[in-house]
Amino acid sequence: MKKFKRILVTSALPYANGPLHIGHLAGAYVPADIYVRYQRLKKADVLFIGGSDEHGVPITIRAKKEGVTPKEIIDRYHYLMKETFKGMGISYDFYGRTSSEVHHKLASDFFRKLYDNGKFIEKTCEQYYDEEARMFLADRYITGECPCCHHEKAYGDQCEKCCTSLSPTDLINPVSTVSGSKPVMKETTHWYLPLEQYQEWLEKWILEEHKEWRPNVYGQCKSWLDMGLQPRAVSRDLDWGIPVPVDNAEGKVLYVWFDAPIGYISNTKEFCDQNPERGSWETWWKEPDTRIVHFIGKDNIVFHCIVFPAMLKAEGTFTLPDNVPSNEFLNLEDDKISTSRNWAVWVDEYLEDFPGKADVMRYVLTANAPETKDNNFTWKNFQAHNNNELVAIFGNFVNRALVLTDKYFGGIVPPCGELTDYDRNTLKEFDEVKQQLESLLDNFKFRDAQKEAMNLARIGNKYLADTEPWKLAKTDMKRVETILNLSVQMVANLSIAFEPFLPFSCEKLRKMIALEEVRWEDLGSFDLMEAGHKLCKPELLFEKIEDDAIEAQIQKLFKQKKEAAENGAESQPANPIKPDIEFPEFEKMDLRIGTVLECTKVPKADKLLQFRIDDGLGCRTIVSGIADWYKPEDLVGKQVCFIANLAPRKIRGIESQGMILSASDAADGSYAVITVQRAVKPGSEVC
Ligand code: 2FM
Ligand code: ZN
Repeated sequence: MKKFKRILVTSALPYANGPLHIGHLAGAYVPADIYVRYQRLKKADVLFIGGSDEHGVPITIRAKKEGVTPKEIIDRYHYLMKETFKGMGISYDFYGRTSSEVHHKLASDFFRKLYDNGKFIEKTCEQYYDEEARMFLADRYITGECPCCHHEKAYGDQCEKCCTSLSPTDLINPVSTVSGSKPVMKETTHWYLPLEQYQEWLEKWILEEHKEWRPNVYGQCKSWLDMGLQPRAVSRDLDWGIPVPVDNAEGKVLYVWFDAPIGYISNTKEFCDQNPERGSWETWWKEPDTRIVHFIGKDNIVFHCIVFPAMLKAEGTFTLPDNVPSNEFLNLEDDKISTSRNWAVWVDEYLEDFPGKADVMRYVLTANAPETKDNNFTWKNFQAHNNNELVAIFGNFVNRALVLTDKYFGGIVPPCGELTDYDRNTLKEFDEVKQQLESLLDNFKFRDAQKEAMNLARIGNKYLADTEPWKLAKTDMKRVETILNLSVQMVANLSIAFEPFLPFSCEKLRKMIALEEVRWEDLGSFDLMEAGHKLCKPELLFEKIEDDAIEAQIQKLFKQKKEAAENGAESQPANPIKPDIEFPEFEKMDLRIGTVLECTKVPKADKLLQFRIDDGLGCRTIVSGIADWYKPEDLVGKQVCFIANLAPRKIRGIESQGMILSASDAADGSYAVITVQRAVKPGSEVC
């Protein structure tokens, strides 16, 4: 195992174009904070760097829509996010922004060094340009008719209806979603990082030397590498961003994914400039004994594991990340979190609705952390974790131990007498859990680590329940002294074990037991407080959350979603009706009802589901792009409508024998499978 002298932790720089939702917190921020707090307790030399990502097209589009400048947008969300992180206890050493002067200079110099050293290739090609908005259009900002299924609103990179991969020039009647005008083709020149030149090096570095990375991260890297890397453009035509620092590059800026990860470096530089006692930024980024760890969400894996390391390698003087713990996605009430559909719990609103309860959300997000697969947040589950664990186990033990000490010894820690075998077993059990907890934290398994911390509280609860000091108080005060001494020592231990997860509650707890500084190495020690140490008045650590508070949140969610759908419906009228067709033409289409026998996700294709359908004559396979809206298991047994005589097509290597029909909701673009109002025999014709 390599020895490191210092640890640099970063968490993804969120785009400053909207508030944070719980999916963001669960993905990259709470796990990073747990890790950093744990390292601080271990007295490691650790630095936690974050900041907002303030460039990119979405910021300019939002500004246009609101009729304000991009600067107004980034200022608004930078400060909101910074406050929100603080409210949630995300303990950055520095939270910067990519619009800062330091960042512009560092990113610009970085580009220039690669340019001067011939690390880029230059290519000229034609791209769609919006003359009204005076901008080149990213693929997602062009819609038009799909050449395959004639869906009217296919995107420039993919038709969401038939799942065909497209390029913008494939679209019939393309329209710019920025201005609504028809885009024109225009020549443009860009700089590309030839990633294929780094393929072999990346294969060795990741696939051979970093087998310990989480399987989801390693697997995603492997599939990118297996597909073969291609050159990636590192510049864009845009009037918002860091100007490309070469001659004749007016109107061109660094691609946001080129400058954003450099933000980790420039934010470290700003921090070190202000805190020289913490060392120079070069020490953090260039010494091989610095351990760099990037916490990110799964949509950022390729940029952090392939593109950014290739940039650093091309530059030649930087240390590469040692690990990139990435989480999968968090769903909300069994549906994908969606900003446009307003299906989200906004963290700033949570902090207002539940003042003083940041830790409860941290706890629940860690208990449901999507560490190995997508996971789900529900308000009922939030309530259950709070009431059944934080209140009933942790809070209850702390309260009983402190109230009893207050009652029998006036809040003074009593002396510890001779230990019984039962006491010794309890301490041993405690020590075993501590070791398990430590190994889980070292391996980024925060969900299981938090479970172990709660197990320590369970041990405490059981100890009090088994020893019953309130009964012994009438006959054996000496024994009560020992029991309560050990109990308050356990309470002190819990204030260390839970510190990475529940920092606000642990601070409150340490105030109650008048314990100042604690260190991770103290965990497991049973003389954290000497006999005679005066405790403060006990208070409740957690409080029950009642049904009405939970109901209010569920109602709020549905109200938000309804409003978003209504607004969406107003601004996007239903598609116009297509030209008339004659009846014989319609008759050519064989529409049937079939029963879904099997439904599974298509590997490596986020949007696709593969069905086995009983069509009344046999079984057929159909691939459909509705994975965003359905869980496969929910569709098994359902009857669906499908086109039975559509010529078979290969989708991701699978022959799809027909098409399952769905309604594309005009309000929000989500899909609803068309089904029958009562069960019919498979193979029934739709007429
Ligand atoms: O996905 C995102 O929110 C990006 N803004 C993350 C950037 S991380 C880093 F590269 F800065
Ligand atoms: Zn299509």
